[in-house]
Amino acid sequence: MNVNTIHSFDEIKKILTEEVGSHSATFILCDSNTNEHCVRFLLETIPVLNEIPIIEIPAGEESKSLEIVGQLYEELLHNNADRQSLLLNVGGGVISDIGGFVASTYKRGIDFINIPTTVMAQVDAAMGGKCGIDLMDVKNAVGLFSWPKSVLVFTGFLNTLPEKELKSGFAEMLKHALIADAEYWEALSHVDSNEASHIAVFVKRSNEIKSEITREDPNERSVRKKLNYGHTIGHAIESFFLAKSEPITHGNAVGWGMILENRIAVQLEILSASLAQTIEDRVLNIFSPLPSFNKDEQEQIFEFILNDKKNKNGVFHFSLIREIGDCLIQVEVSEEIARKVISV
Ligand SMILES: NC(=O)c1ccc[n+]([C@@H]2O[C@H](COP(=O)([O-])OP(=O)(O)OC[C@H]3O[C@@H](n4cnc5c(N)ncnc54)[C@H](O)[C@@H]3O)[C@@H](O)[C@H]2O)c1
Ligand SMILES: [Zn+2]
Repeated sequence: MNVNTIHSFDEIKKILTEEVGSHSATFILCDSNTNEHCVRFLLETIPVLNEIPIIEIPAGEESKSLEIVGQLYEELLHNNADRQSLLLNVGGGVISDIGGFVASTYKRGIDFINIPTTVMAQVDAAMGGKCGIDLMDVKNAVGLFSWPKSVLVFTGFLNTLPEKELKSGFAEMLKHALIADAEYWEALSHVDSNEASHIAVFVKRSNEIKSEITREDPNERSVRKKLNYGHTIGHAIESFFLAKSEPITHGNAVGWGMILENRIAVQLEILSASLAQTIEDRVLNIFSPLPSFNKDEQEQIFEFILNDKKNKNGVFHFSLIREIGDCLIQVEVSEEIARKVISV
């Protein structure tokens, strides 16, 4: 699937003006923060957007829920949205995940365009076709593959993003470098992850890496699994903290996930211990040290790993790097080794 990804703001204006004109009705979905920081700017700069209904949901992961999905369907019905309607998802990964899900299922699917406003969404969530919501503390338990008509990436939005969120998205950029491009890794090692303007320069390179991989394997049957590096354990850690009502950012969980999955690769003698340490040092420049989990917590995290779709027939499959820029997929890992890395 080749998604139209646009970076120039003039082009973004042009596309939005044309798309609004060619749909029966357009709706903007945003959260309380993106309404203030991003939608307002879009309305000021793109006149055709001014007449459009704005649907705002509360900011945060808790909004990726069935309850909010129901409210959004009702809102669309209430506003007489028909099958030729268009949804503009203006926000971070929460908005593109739930907005894509709602658009793809409302009246069997209406068009949607993602206008990502966080690093996480600009380099990752808004552009891979994965949409969905959480259920019973399980991340992305319900969802589908469905592609936006376009992804409009304006890095100027990153200027109002809190540092925590900049770091979160930056972890995915490090992941892109680690699985695909050693030179990119070198370049990123000089980037200050607290500085939106530093990060903005590299958003396009991450877009390219993610696009190349998802174009080759849209439904995650082969190479797309590389993008799961750091995520099998990362998602489990993220779900664990979400269940405790102490949510951490997705990027933080992925950062820790990459560290722990590298330890698996070291155990399997796929990755050298010194390279694993180099990567760990870089990641821990951004995030706090890994917490040590007690026995009970380790068990809970392990349960989340078991729930993960990547584990078939009791065998664990991980995407593991062996060099910077070189990622293996479908590496079989024993339960013993998987448990061991969580217990340190
Ligand atoms: N579908 C995918 O392929 C994919 C990939 C990665 C992550 N995700 C999902 O994305 C979600 C995380 O995305 P996220 O990190 O963007 O979180 P998010 O959407 O919750 O945004 C983070 C915070 O930043 C605020 N915000 C957004 N843009 C802003 C701006 N420009 N200025 C100021 N504040 C702004 C939001 O209101 C929110 O409070 C998770 O649910 C994760 O599962 C999905
Ligand atoms: Zn991710």
